[in-house]
Amino acid sequence: MKIDLSLPGSPPRTSEISIGDDVLETIAGGLEDALRGRAAYWIWDEAVWNLWGRRAAELGWPEPAGGRVILFAASEPNKRMASVEFLARRLVNAGATRDSALVAVGGGVTGDIVGFAASIYMRGIPHFQVPTTLLAQVDSSVGGKTGVDLPEGKNLLGTFHQPTRVWVDPRWLVTLPEAELRQGMAEVIKSAIIGDEVLWKFVENNGQNLRRRDPEALLRIISASCLLKTRVVEADEKEAGYRRVLNLGHTVGHALEKLTGYRLKHGDAVAVGMLAAAGLSRRMGMMPAGDAERLERLCEQWAMPVRVPADIRPEAVIDAIRADKKRIGDRLHFILPVRIGEVVERTDIDYDELRDVLAHLREK
Ligand SMILES: NC(=O)c1ccc[n+]([C@@H]2O[C@H](COP(=O)([O-])OP(=O)(O)OC[C@H]3O[C@@H](n4cnc5c(N)ncnc54)[C@H](O)[C@@H]3O)[C@@H](O)[C@H]2O)c1
Ligand SMILES: [Zn+2]
Repeated sequence: MKIDLSLPGSPPRTSEISIGDDVLETIAGGLEDALRGRAAYWIWDEAVWNLWGRRAAELGWPEPAGGRVILFAASEPNKRMASVEFLARRLVNAGATRDSALVAVGGGVTGDIVGFAASIYMRGIPHFQVPTTLLAQVDSSVGGKTGVDLPEGKNLLGTFHQPTRVWVDPRWLVTLPEAELRQGMAEVIKSAIIGDEVLWKFVENNGQNLRRRDPEALLRIISASCLLKTRVVEADEKEAGYRRVLNLGHTVGHALEKLTGYRLKHGDAVAVGMLAAAGLSRRMGMMPAGDAERLERLCEQWAMPVRVPADIRPEAVIDAIRADKKRIGDRLHFILPVRIGEVVERTDIDYDELRDVLAHLREK
């Protein structure tokens, strides 16, 4: 499957996304064509290299000994400027010039750092993405956002830099721990609620197949989610408006991540956030009770949390939301599900209403 994403702006204007369970074998050739003589430097999440390095050699990809591969320990605490500088210095020392390109192999942390480094290395060079987590395949590798964290908060520094090409192969997910698969599933469920009821039903009916990493089932959800995100991003590259629908579940989700000191992982926090959004929607007489129940059941099926942790006070969540960069002025704005497959943006949410919903969702 090939998705063409044409976006306004400076080059590279298009990201081509190849999704398939035979994509790994096509990367080397595809890269060579796309590079047009540029030298590629491969930046791998070291943990992924340890699991997949041998396969990479079979595929004829370069190896660390050749000087074109940089391994780095990708983890959220490492998603910071120091890592960008580390990579940039390694690149300079390896001889990378403004005619080089970067290839990111790893999850969202790797993709975000490599994209960021590519966007500023010698004033910007092209990059390619080979996402290896479900989250990166359905979310972070699509859309062109890059970034690193500051001690003050996540993703506070970043750029828009479209990867020239993204290669998505579900076979990477065979080695992905279940808890990481779940983080990506939360974003898939989010996509389904935003605008794909067929995807929703597929996820409901294929829990087992997805958990045992059946490549066909994975392909189905990855392509549907990528397509949805692409459609949204295409309509609004710079988050001027429509892109905000992708924030479903994220307003409360981000607050919960922060308040739990990131003990609650992103996808898990978004699951609770989606339930809070469903709760608000129910109160406003929009989402049918049956749909809200289906959402809770699906989250439970995936062992996602469905309650606000007992040690988090609703008031603290509200304060954290007030401090969030995604807030518009003084208004609380929320993406709310109208039903499964449709969302609406509301800017008239009352703090008291949100407090009640959160109290209701709190663990007893
Ligand atoms: N740019 C965007 O638009 C965007 C969107 C969503 C999220 N993000 C960012 O993405 C990051 C999260 O991404 P993530 O969940 O992929 O995190 P990650 O890159 O930390 O990967 C999660 C874990 O899985 C391991 N891993 C990766 N691939 C594996 C594989 N195939 N087999 C076994 N283990 C594997 C990694 O080593 C890591 O321990 C966050 O920093 C978030 O801010 C960015
Ligand atoms: Zn998210």
